[in-house]
Amino acid sequence: MVRDDGKEQKAEFVMLREVLEGLRKEQKSLPSKYFYDERGSELFEMICEQEEYYPTNTEIDIMQTDISEISERIGSGVELIEFGSGSSIKTRLLLDHLDHPVKYIPVDISEEFLMKASEKISLEYPDLTVNPVAADYTRRFTLPKRNGHSTKRVIYFPGSTIGNFLPERASAFLKTHASLLKPGGGMLIGVDRKKSKERLEAAYNDSAGVTAQFNKNLLLRINRELAGTFDLTCFKHKAFYNEAEGRIEMHLVSTKNQDVTVAGEVFHFEAGETIHTENSYKYTPVEVKELFSEQYRFEEMWTDPEDLFGVYYFSVSDGERE
Ligand code: AVJ
Repeated sequence: MVRDDGKEQKAEFVMLREVLEGLRKEQKSLPSKYFYDERGSELFEMICEQEEYYPTNTEIDIMQTDISEISERIGSGVELIEFGSGSSIKTRLLLDHLDHPVKYIPVDISEEFLMKASEKISLEYPDLTVNPVAADYTRRFTLPKRNGHSTKRVIYFPGSTIGNFLPERASAFLKTHASLLKPGGGMLIGVDRKKSKERLEAAYNDSAGVTAQFNKNLLLRINRELAGTFDLTCFKHKAFYNEAEGRIEMHLVSTKNQDVTVAGEVFHFEAGETIHTENSYKYTPVEVKELFSEQYRFEEMWTDPEDLFGVYYFSVSDGERE
């Protein structure tokens, strides 16, 4: 296990700082990356099983249908770097169909999930070198040295997680990682597409209320880890499609005037005031190409019969090598 701590502060302090910063703002907000503690990851998996939440199953369908073309496009002897701890159906599909991948590098902020997932993959793929890296891939981090006999590096970034970044952050992120991929590498990325407001809003307001639980779990986590006093009965889940911004927004709405303490600091909420907890941007294929236009070249896109979701392969434009 490689741990990329560098000059980073301890994760708990970073979370504390980011949570307090978010709650001090005029429009209160919390970073969506903190949804995924153990319970949150479990709830997310349950979301994926809800009828209304189409992205995960649609992406899997695309991967299953087009895996031969996708694998051919990626080529042989690659080092596959996955952002997110992996071991999903999608990861296995790729590992099963790629031509002699030489190394698999899952990158995840949670060391625990990463360890579990890597051990499973190692057992199932005894000939594959598995080299997990515990790091926050939204920032710059160091990768293990390129294997002598690998042909290129390919980043796999599934799940439309890029949709959680503000568009300017997303293109900065892509630029940062382009240097990891030179020369000749690429990125296979899953991105949710724009579609009707009704379909989008249903996906984030499932009738079983799992997304609501997922949203509120963030407050439970803050209560537990940062000595918070959120009363979950006084916050309601709200999700809507902001058409002008092209994004689903999730909020937690305070149902009354109330004070909440986090790590000793008091925050006041008016009735109806919200905490903005997530953006999930939706992109047309043209917009995805635009996001990647600076350092990458579009190679191919795969989609489903309803045009719900896109899987794209971009190669790095070489030019100046690092
Ligand atoms: C895993 C981040 C892509 O934005 O659709 C699901 C997370 N939030 N339901 C998404 C999520 C609410 C999901 N991502």
